[in-house]
Amino acid sequence: MAFEGTTAIVTGGASGLGLAIAEALVARGTKVAIFDIQADQLDTEVTRLREQGATVDGYVVDVSDREQVESAMGKVRAEFGPILILINNAGIEQFGKFTQLTDDLWDRVMAINLRGPFICTQLALPDMQDAKWGRIVNISSSSAQGGQSYMAAYVASKAGLIGFTKALALELGPRGITVNTIPPGMVVTPMLEKAIAEGKFTDSLEHFVSITPVRRAGRPEDIANAAVFLCQDESSYITGQIIGVNGGRRT
Ligand SMILES: NC(=O)c1ccc[n+]([C@@H]2O[C@H](COP(=O)([O-])OP(=O)(O)OC[C@H]3O[C@@H](n4cnc5c(N)ncnc54)[C@H](O)[C@@H]3O)[C@@H](O)[C@H]2O)c1
Repeated sequence: MAFEGTTAIVTGGASGLGLAIAEALVARGTKVAIFDIQADQLDTEVTRLREQGATVDGYVVDVSDREQVESAMGKVRAEFGPILILINNAGIEQFGKFTQLTDDLWDRVMAINLRGPFICTQLALPDMQDAKWGRIVNISSSSAQGGQSYMAAYVASKAGLIGFTKALALELGPRGITVNTIPPGMVVTPMLEKAIAEGKFTDSLEHFVSITPVRRAGRPEDIANAAVFLCQDESSYITGQIIGVNGGRRT
């Protein structure tokens, strides 16, 4: 099975890390379907990528909604063929004191960050099982490795995604399907910029850079390069791994 020419779904690919991963995959000749809830942004980015010659389409999908995911995956299969690469990237952040965390917010974070990958993976899997080849990359967070105050629901959801990755890798390895997770460190994206602008972190970005061994913040391409690496044919012996992309902080 050649990596080039296969079909990938990138969730949350209208922005930030997902968009960089989608761009990196199309640059390697992969057909990419982007799932996102931001319709206008999705349209803008898909149009831009198509103008550059990419085989790409966008679908307005909430990853936590099984019916929406199932319907969109049917359209992806009809348009691009079997789904053999899945990048579970869509996610939302959560900030606030643990004592003020509500059941509703906890459930919303878990629905998008953890149930979303569960639903997308389960529904994409039959194609990978038929092909005896598949690549699943889950974007977790370095906060699940080191902890992060005032983000208990978010960190718990991302730690869950790491456990999900390890369990599935064991189950799917015999079928030629690898499952890995990338926990990014601080990467400058709209999500991070908004959190910093709203004063959600107790420390500045400059402080995080100063305690990061390579002394810079992450760029979306840093994560995209690692995701592409994990999707290559040559990475077939790498599964169940936590591939930290964090400049050396929280390894
Ligand atoms: N930026 C960082 O420093 C950083 C660090 C660690 C982990 N992450 C994780 O990386 C992933 C991407 O984050 P980002 O920084 O690019 O954020 P972002 O906000 O720029 O992009 C996230 C995208 O996900 C989409 N999305 C949100 N909810 C969705 C849903 N229910 N269904 C479909 N799409 C949905 C958003 O519309 C957005 O386009 C997230 O899972 C995030 O938790 C980011």
